[in-house]
Amino acid sequence: MGTPYYDVVFVLVAISLSVLGLASDQNPLQDFCVADPTVQVLMNGLPCKDPKAVQADDFSFSGFNQSGNTSNPLGSAITPVAVSEIPGLNTLGISLVRVDYGRGGVNPPHTHPRASEILTVLDGSLEVGFVTSSPENRRITKVLHKGDVFVFPIGLVHYQKNVGPGNAVAIAALSSQNPGVVIIAGAVFGSVPEMDDDVLVRSFQLDKGVVGYLKSKF
Ligand SMILES: *[C@@H]1O[C@H](CO)[C@@H](O)[C@H](O)[C@H]1NC(C)=O
Ligand SMILES: *[C@@H]1O[C@H](CO)[C@@H](O)[C@H](O)[C@H]1NC(C)=O
Repeated sequence: MGTPYYDVVFVLVAISLSVLGLASDQNPLQDFCVADPTVQVLMNGLPCKDPKAVQADDFSFSGFNQSGNTSNPLGSAITPVAVSEIPGLNTLGISLVRVDYGRGGVNPPHTHPRASEILTVLDGSLEVGFVTSSPENRRITKVLHKGDVFVFPIGLVHYQKNVGPGNAVAIAALSSQNPGVVIIAGAVFGSVPEMDDDVLVRSFQLDKGVVGYLKSKF
């Protein structure tokens, strides 16, 4: 039994914890729930493997020692380590990604619908940035060098560009086992089936020829 003062503090702490809880995946209800891809149950997350059958490899991934292939139009490569690579991440609310950037390479504007991201530069120099929501659309940007860390808040459009003289490498952690990614250009100009030209002409204030050209690129 607390005094009214402690009750108020308790309620405030409980409210703030429940608000924080919304910023990442649900907390697990057991030590772990290693995903079992063979069980065909549709649920929020993945069903658990029998804990007695769980092995160390269920919690492990090898391959971050290898650089991604950046010979593509963006000049970047993503190596994700989410629940599909480490089934033991199921219900734990975290994942990791390695990003390689060739000279001038870009990780194009995108959002993660389910995760905030914290990125550290292992090698090279990156210009990074995110844009706040409308109507401000304020771009918050910084040039990072080896050892620097930057945060991209959940849901906001963000990007990175290699601004150094050589290749760059970064590792980023995300606050979801399955952060998801919406790449803006592909979502808008490359959806299947495609968006009507009229929608894109008006939305982006472009003429129809330019819309057709952009659709052909994505
Ligand atoms: C990366 O690590 C894996 C697993 O430990 C190993 O088999 C592979 O040879 C390594 N590759 C490089 C490029 O170091
Ligand atoms: C990298 O990707 C390009 C384009 O797909 C391909 O031609 C090349 O062989 C790849 N390089 C390696 C080392 O896999």
